Formats: sequence, structure tokens, C-alpha cells
Amino acid sequence: MSVSEIFDRLDYGPAPEDAAPAHAWLDAHGRKFGHFIDGQFASGQGHFETVNPANGKVLAHIAQALPADVDAAVAAARRALSRWSATPGHARARVLYAIARQIQKNSRLLAVLETLDNGMPIRESRDDDVPTSARHFYHHAGWAQLAERELPGYGPVGVVGQVIPWNFPLLMLAWKIAPAIAMGNTVVLKPAELTSITALAFAELCVAAGVPPGVINIITGDGAVGSAIVRHPGVDKIAFTGSTDVGRDIRVATAGSGKKLSLELGGKSPYVIFEDADLDSAVEGLVDAIFYNQGQVCCAGSRLLVQESVEARVLDKLRTRLERIRVGDPMDKAVDMGAIVSLDQRERIARLVKQGGEEGATVWQPSAPCPDGCFYPPTLLIGAEPASTVAQVEIFGPVLVTMTFRTPAEGIALANNTRYGLAGTVWTESLGLAVDVSRAIKAGTIWVNCTNQFDAASGFGGYRESGFGREGGREGLFEYAQPLPPAGGHAPDAMPASRPAPEPREASLDRTPKLFIGGKQVRPDQGYVVPVVGVDGASIGEVGDGNRKDIRNAVEAARAASGWATATAHLRAQILYYIAENLSARAAEFAARLVLQTGGDGAAEVEATLSRLFSYAAWADKYDGAVHAVPQKGFTLAVVEPIGVMGLVCPDESPLLALVSLVGPAIAMGNTVIVVPSERHPLSATDLYQVLETSDVPAGVVNIVTGRRDVLAPVLAAHDGVDAVWYFGTAAGARVVEEKSAGNLKQTWTDWSRRDWRDPAHSEGRELLHHATQVKNIWLPGE
Ligand code: NAI
Repeated sequence: MSVSEIFDRLDYGPAPEDAAPAHAWLDAHGRKFGHFIDGQFASGQGHFETVNPANGKVLAHIAQALPADVDAAVAAARRALSRWSATPGHARARVLYAIARQIQKNSRLLAVLETLDNGMPIRESRDDDVPTSARHFYHHAGWAQLAERELPGYGPVGVVGQVIPWNFPLLMLAWKIAPAIAMGNTVVLKPAELTSITALAFAELCVAAGVPPGVINIITGDGAVGSAIVRHPGVDKIAFTGSTDVGRDIRVATAGSGKKLSLELGGKSPYVIFEDADLDSAVEGLVDAIFYNQGQVCCAGSRLLVQESVEARVLDKLRTRLERIRVGDPMDKAVDMGAIVSLDQRERIARLVKQGGEEGATVWQPSAPCPDGCFYPPTLLIGAEPASTVAQVEIFGPVLVTMTFRTPAEGIALANNTRYGLAGTVWTESLGLAVDVSRAIKAGTIWVNCTNQFDAASGFGGYRESGFGREGGREGLFEYAQPLPPAGGHAPDAMPASRPAPEPREASLDRTPKLFIGGKQVRPDQGYVVPVVGVDGASIGEVGDGNRKDIRNAVEAARAASGWATATAHLRAQILYYIAENLSARAAEFAARLVLQTGGDGAAEVEATLSRLFSYAAWADKYDGAVHAVPQKGFTLAVVEPIGVMGLVCPDESPLLALVSLVGPAIAMGNTVIVVPSERHPLSATDLYQVLETSDVPAGVVNIVTGRRDVLAPVLAAHDGVDAVWYFGTAAGARVVEEKSAGNLKQTWTDWSRRDWRDPAHSEGRELLHHATQVKNIWLPGE
């Protein structure tokens, strides 16, 4: 082609990245890899092929870990734990810093290996993934340095099992390993079977960086290996990123094991364009939101919600832009979209697009032919029905589903019409609208007039079925840290000798006890009661024997009270103070009732309860967010939000104080609650609702259902209208709660350690507030 022809057509010439150094590196390893355990490379067995999806050629052979390999990796991590967790923060920081430097020094090799193995354009691996991976180690080197002073009272969780997906192999590894080792944990990580190579290259860098043996172990293989890590009794925490189905499986598998769990799952993120938006920028952002990495992005803006008045213009601009997208060899620096990770994934995408067409959406693809093999063109499914499959399931490919709305309220409703809640994008020139919509969309990350912004200083993670836990930022550290037990251990209240739980019986007519639902005292659905006996074994009363239907009514009332979340923190504080004031007026009566039930020091418990109410009134407007110092211009606001409707299952110890210790942080932060009070000593709770009634607590904010704990807790855990459950009971009960929570992947916090509720250092404050909230990061760009 002559120069004048090139000027005439303005076509791109090929700009291939040199793959030779990466192939030389693979050759130097004989294109065969084993596991990295205890600082050594083991040869491994059962090797399988890993393929370059762009050309179908075999790149290398990867070992399939056997149970013995999993055992060896966990044992190495366990051996390394005591020394690594006791290593001073500064020494740990130097190791993380050295890893960051190694990634930078080898950045081109890592980028090319990633593109060869995964199919993502070299432009993306080179400019985004590898630099951001290094940044995660830099950022967390800083947290290692500061942890002792910034997180006093916290220590590592222990041996952490980490299972990651194939869409951003090195970056996901960095997101997982950096915070874990910064906080003094040791790690067993499994990359996805389709994309293991950069994890193994990273293992080599760990040796060069001087990571002590056993601190980072990397084993390869398929889902069976992931499953073995998840189920391994030597692992203290699981961190998983991948599909929601596997996340659910992991939730069930770890139930009752005491393992800490964080899940970063799928998404169906809304991309909302209002009519006053800068439409050219919004369309450019949209291309990035859904076609970056071929749409294989958990937070991809895969649902376009465009205000009806500008739909035609937006779609015209989008189609024009997509006609110019270059799909092809990902090693070409001028290519926009590379290869889909595997033929299976490509088939899944094609199948869902076909289904979208059958469900009534108009399928549009650019006119240019798409290369054969693992490639898929940018695709629009225009005018999809909100309830259709393609508008609800994660396609995980370059496919945008489009819908329209008329009013902001309708746009918000559509945005939230998903079981997921990973991210959302909002385009409008109106600041007020941007703020309101950002607050209203239920998702862990919101981008305003920008999209796909990430940084190690900002937490990333989901609401609802997109999982729980955050990666990055201060908020992400808590996934890898836990409160240290008090020196000398917990000193729980003296418990009465165990007695068989009383059997429910019919209520006597004159003393029908009530539940407290929707601000009203209501009879239990079936009219049965549970007798309550005092510390001396004599009958001291009875309470309603709540059932499934009562819980359902309470959930309905709690959902209807969702306005509490947007009430001002000042108002919530005032109401908590008012509860304390009214309780104080009846202190003697409450103290006497406590003595009758538990035989403990009732006056002291009431006094401690008043102090706790004051504490959470104080916290209501003080447990707030942050503006993260990310490299991008503008503000990244870490906003603390309530979780929603919470089920609080109370322990038997300190029955009044413990109940208030759970309700206080939950409602101070804007949640509405269904409380199952102490099964053994429920009378303080039924007395308390008289106090609530006189304290201006809006109807439905606090609902109390008495009865048998392990009958009611599973109903709460299984209810889709409940967003989180705290359970303070038995190990067996905790298992059931965690298992049942897998349905809508609600957050759970279970504890059967019988903590000392009287000790504010361990039963009040930030730990509870952390569990009562979720952080939403809102990105507001500068110019
Ligand atoms: P996946 O969830 O099966 O795989 C993710 C990781 O989990 C891999 O390392 C895999 O080996 C491991 N794994 C699989 N089964 C496991 C088990 N039972 N226990 C423990 N670990 C297990 O994802 P897959 O099959 O690769 O992709 C399927 C769909 O999942 C995609 O089409 C996409 O919709 C979604 N996905 C979502 C991702 C996200 O970032 N949210 C990432 C990857 C996939």
C-alpha cells in the first residue's frame, strides 16, 4: 500500500507487540509448570494445556494439584504464619515494596504473558492491569507499615485460601495477596485454570523479592482444587472472586466452619444516561464500560438505561462508534477488543445473544466481519424487556442490553431491578441528580460522569448478590484482620446451669404475651407461648412463641420502614438518646426483672445498657466515610451506608445489654431490624418495646419476635427480604444460619464465643459498626 493510499484511507497499520521475550521465558521453563509451595517450585502432576485463545495454540502445560499438594501448601502457609504475623510491620512493608518493584521491573513480560494467556488487548494489560497490580503492592506496603498503629487491637486472620477468576489474572492476584500479607496472613492462592501463567511468573518474582518461604503459596488446577482449598480445615479464611453460583457453593461449604469469608461475585451493572448528560462523553464511557476486556468484567456496565428523550441520539452515536471498533489480534497495540478467553465462553455469549433476540430485543452488530475463533463482535440488544433473561443474567461478554426510562425515579427503579449490586454509572450534568441517583443505586461502586475507575486506595466489592467484603482501601483491610481476643481471654457472664428449653403451650387468656411488629404489640400467629423460668427455676412469665409467619410480618414491617436509612444521623442519635432517657426512668423495674431472670447484677446491667445507648447515639453521626487519595483527579467518596433489613439473634448472656449492643449499632447506622431476643431470658425485651413505643422510634424500625432461637434464626437467614443476619448462639445454629444465607447471599456475622457484653472494649464500637454498614465508593471526576 502506498503512502498516499494510507493517507487516503487512514487505516491503522499493524502494530504488533514483540512476543519473543515471553516465548523465551516460557521455553526456559520447558513450557511446563508445577506448584509454588514453601518458596520452592514443585513439578506437579496431571498437567493440562493452557491455550492462547487468540490463535488456539498451546502455550504451556499446567499442573493439576492433588489433595496432597493442597495439604502441603496449607501446611507451608501454617508453618510460616507465626513468624510472618510476628514480623514487624516495617519488615513486612519492605517485602511488599520489593514485590511492587519486581512487578514494575518485569512489567512488559507480565503484560505480554497476560495477553497471550487471556486474550485481553496488550494495550489493557500493559497500561492498566500490570501497573495497577504494582500499585496494589505499593499501597499495601503502606498498610503493613501502619497497621500496628492504625488498626490497634486487630491481628491477622491466619491462613487464607484465595481463589481467583480468569478475567484479570494478575490484577485479581494482587487484589487478593497484597492486603492479606500486609496484615500478617499467609496465603494459598489458586489462579483460574484458563489463566495460570502470570501467577506462576509472579511466584518467581516473590523469590526475587525475598518473600519468606510459605508466606505465599500458589497451586494450580481446576475447580476441584478450589473446592479442596475452600473445604480444607487448615484454612482460616476464604477470599473468592468468580461466578455467583460458585460463590453460593462456597458459602454453603464454609458454613459453620468458623472460616471468615469474602465473596466478589457477578454483576449486571446499570449505566444510566440522563437527557442532560454530555452525550459524546457518555457514549465514549459506555464503550469502555462494556467492551473493555471484551466485556468479561464483573462490574461491566452491561445494562444501558437511557432517558427516553435521548435514546435515539445515544444509540446513533453508539452504533457509529462501534463501527470503528477494531476486533482482532490482542497483541496488536492498535486493537480495541481482543479474544474471548475460551471457546466455551464464546459459545455461552452467542447462546445468550440468540436468546435475547428470541426474547424480543433487536440484535445489532457492526458491519465489519469479526475474526474467526475466540472472537465476538461488540453487540447491542436494543429494547430488552427488564425481566428478560439477558437483562437479568451476567453475559460476561461484549454485549450491551439497552432499555429506556422516563423519570429519574423510573431510572433508579430499573437500575435496582437486579439481584446484583456491584457497580453503577451515572451520567448527568446536574450535580444534585448525580448525588441523589448515586445514593439510590444499591451498589458498592458508583461512577459519576466516568466509568471503570479503580485504585488500591478505594475499596471495591458488592451489595446484595454481588457478594460481600471489600478489596482495597482501609475498608478492605478488615477482610484480612480480626479483633484480637482480650488479654486473658473473654470472661463471659456466669450462665445458669443448662436446662432443657421449655415446651411451647397454649396462651392463657388473661396474660396473652405479644410480639412487637410494625410499631404495634401483636399476638403471635399461632397463639402459642413459651414459659419463662427464673434463675431459681420458678415460672416468672411467658412470651409468644413466634413462627415463620411472624418473622415474615416483621420483615415486611422492617422493609416498609426503609425511610429510616435516609433519616438524618442527628435524628437517629436523638431517638437513641430518647430510648436511654425513657429506659432510665424505669431503671429499677428493668433491674429487678434482670435479677429475677439471670440472678446477675441487674442495676449494673441497666447502667451499662444506658451507656451503650449513649455510645451509639454518639456514633450515629461519627462513624462516617472518607475521601480516598486515589491517583485520579477528582474525589472518591467512601460513603458509609446501612445494609438494609437486619435479623439480630441475641445471646442469652446479659439479655438486655446484649440486645441493645446489637440493636444500637444497627439502627444508629440506618438499618431496620428484626430482633430475636434471648430465648432463655426474653422478658427484658418484651419490657423494652414499651420503652420503644414511647421513644418516637418509627414503626417497623425495631421489631421483636420472641420464641425459640433456632426455629426463628433459620427463617431469618433464608428470607430474601433480609439483607444481613447476626447470630449469637451455638456453633450448630451458626452453621444453619450460614447455610440458609446462601439463597440471597446475605451477609452473616455469627459468634458462639460467649463474649463479655459488659466490656465496651470488646463488645461496643467499630467492630459492630463495621458489620452494620457497607461502604459505597462514589467517583466524582475533576476536569
Ligand atoms: P468460576 O466461578 O467457575 O471460576 C472462578 C474460579 O473458581 C476459578 O479459579 C475456578 O477454578 C474456581 N472454582 C470453580 N468451581 C469451584 C468450586 N466449586 N469451589 C471453589 N472454586 C471453584 O467461573 P467460570 O466457570 O470460569 O465462569 C463462568 C461464569 O462466571 C462466567 O461466564 C461469568 O458470568 C462468571 N464469572 C464472573 C467473574 C467475576 O469476576 N465476577 C469472573 C469469572 C467468571
